[in-house]
Amino acid sequence: MNDLRENLVVQEILRNRVSLRNYAERQLDEQDINLIIEAAMRAPTAGNMMMYSMIIVSDQNLKERLSVTCDHQPFIAKAPLVIIFLADLQRWFDYYYKSGVEDFCLKQGLEFSGPDEADLMLSSCDALIAAENAVIAAEAIGIGSCYIGDIMENYEIHQSLLDLPPLVFPISMVCFGYYPKNERPRPRERFDSRYIVHENKYRRSANQDLEAMLASRSAGFDPHNSFGAENYGQWMYAKKTGAPFSVEMARSVRRALENWRGKQYKPTE
Ligand SMILES: Cc1cc2nc3c(=O)[nH]c(=O)nc-3n(C[C@H](O)[C@H](O)[C@H](O)COP(=O)(O)O)c2cc1C
Repeated sequence: MNDLRENLVVQEILRNRVSLRNYAERQLDEQDINLIIEAAMRAPTAGNMMMYSMIIVSDQNLKERLSVTCDHQPFIAKAPLVIIFLADLQRWFDYYYKSGVEDFCLKQGLEFSGPDEADLMLSSCDALIAAENAVIAAEAIGIGSCYIGDIMENYEIHQSLLDLPPLVFPISMVCFGYYPKNERPRPRERFDSRYIVHENKYRRSANQDLEAMLASRSAGFDPHNSFGAENYGQWMYAKKTGAPFSVEMARSVRRALENWRGKQYKPTE
């Protein structure tokens, strides 16, 4: 009998995927780009509303600018294909206004609520699921990729660079490029599933679980090269969660949310 579990192609692709930051110096074939875009657009999308957009960054000057505004990551400028994935409710709200939904709500005693935080979360889900479809489709044809979360920083700059209306938020950017010959990073370690997968209820990790989960990573902690941190937890906080880029991201997202919740998204006519 044909056991589908023996068809390991997709599993192998998922198992071997790594974030690739060093690309072969070769432009992407048009056909390959089309395949990546098509895969993104076949992703599940809440209510089949496609509350996302993609911007393909083909202008080299813009790539270079983004490599600076996205926390100074020069490899962005060298990526043959860069796509920004945007949570996008502008299309739908422009359509709602055009369709007289405001009047309709008044007549029906319904509240015409502007896009709220939940809409931003939902449209971000849409955009990220589309992005991951693109990543996996790319892997399948020998194209590596790397997400750039730092596109959430510097909201005002990105808004102006990309002409973003108020109901469009850049939730992630992905760099793509062919794997360099004979050079493929090894898949990176993950935490054990027992810390990640819960059954029926959430089980908050006890201190000893946290220690065990991070044992192999914290074994590499070097107190002499550590921003004054005394342990791995302090070091990670300084390097990631509390780092200047995270502070900027928090400011930037707050600013974007003010715009999202404001009323400026109304069409001008
Ligand atoms: C939402 C998100 C944002 C990320 N942002 C960046 C980034 O700005 N720069 C970067 O080099 N890698 C970025 N990455 C890649 C992660 O660092 C990478 O996935 C992680 O270290 C695990 O490595 P792996 O993908 O090779 O398994 C991001 C990944 C995700 C999912």
